[in-house]
Amino acid sequence: MAKYTIAVLPGDGIGNDVIEAARIVLDRIGLDADYQYGDIGWEFWKSEGDPLPDRTLNLLRETNCCLFGAITSKPKEEADRELHPDLQGKGLVYFSPIVRLRQEFQLSTNLRPCKAYAGNPLNYRDDIDLVVFRENTEGLYSGIEFHPVPDTVREALSASHPKMKKFQSVSADDMAISCRIFTRAACGNIVRNAFEYAKKHEYQSVTVVEKPNVIRETSGLMVREARNTAALYPGISLWEANVDAMCMWLIKNPQDYGVLVSSNMFGDIISDLCAQLVGGLGFACSANVGDHYAVFEPTHGSAPKYAGLYKVNPIATLLSVKLMLDWLGEGDLAVRLENAVADVIREGKIRTYDMGGSHTTLDVAEAVALRL
Ligand code: NAI
Ligand code: MG
Repeated sequence: MAKYTIAVLPGDGIGNDVIEAARIVLDRIGLDADYQYGDIGWEFWKSEGDPLPDRTLNLLRETNCCLFGAITSKPKEEADRELHPDLQGKGLVYFSPIVRLRQEFQLSTNLRPCKAYAGNPLNYRDDIDLVVFRENTEGLYSGIEFHPVPDTVREALSASHPKMKKFQSVSADDMAISCRIFTRAACGNIVRNAFEYAKKHEYQSVTVVEKPNVIRETSGLMVREARNTAALYPGISLWEANVDAMCMWLIKNPQDYGVLVSSNMFGDIISDLCAQLVGGLGFACSANVGDHYAVFEPTHGSAPKYAGLYKVNPIATLLSVKLMLDWLGEGDLAVRLENAVADVIREGKIRTYDMGGSHTTLDVAEAVALRL
């Protein structure tokens, strides 16, 4: 029996292309693992009314961790329209399977390293080395949303907050509410993980990115937890930045920052900004980590227009595999993989379209595999 069992969920669109690339590299590096493929994504929403079938959840429960490609999510009207006719009108509601995976397996930390590799023509600067820690299970992505707004919700809010008066005359259908729920436990956890990472990897600063001057209660809670945690890490500076200003500072002086920590939605936004500083979505890797399980994925989506064309850059996925090797405790293999990726980027001979080349997804994977 292999040392590890790894669930592989290619998903939709280019998820399939990049996962094929990942397998080339994994097979070459010789990780002692068994790979079990599972179903996720839009096809299963259309045909079964569930983009994350129970059999997939069960498969994940029997594995050490999961490597995930990308899925397609479409807005409400399209979701309803594309559902198989037999399933329509049954009250099925689409919910993002990746958000559900994060919640189901309590993958509370989303880790997104953004490093400028030497020789990447897409680097905004060559001295950028940022790591975003994004809270992954609550905040604005809790999924507690209302439209139309039920009377009970409106009454409860009106009874507890004077500012609800302003919305008194708006009809239930002309209003929508999405709840931004933070818990002290989740805020404390993400901030602690950010500081631990900074300590282990010798970053000088952790910047908490929120908006406590306006969103006083939720962002306020996160910032207070950051201050409490910072006191336990005397060698690391805590910087506080408002999310809007941070978008400006990240363009102005990205080299000044190390570890960034934020809530679910703000973390999502700044991590795409950070990704673009080091080459864009083709380079943006991520890990969704909980206490007992982890899911590794490129942060990009399914890019339907490139599906099956083997045009897109697999580096985001290969770097996600690197994070997986780290998490499994295969540190030597992780270093070998990162070095091989860095070599291919530095040599600049094999490049996908986003880097100005015309090589395929699998050409890049083969080039990395050759250097392992
Ligand atoms: P996307 O990330 O799929 O693609 C946006 C654009 O970025 C592409 O058209 C392409 O130009 C570029 N790009 C993406 N990945 C690339 C790669 N590996 N190499 C080179 N260029 C790359 O985002 P979009 O178009 O907003 O969404 C498409 C679908 O993906 C939607 O249904 C969306 O809901 C879903 N999505 C899924 C995510 C996930 O599975 N985690 C994350 C983001 C979007
Ligand atoms: Mg995103």
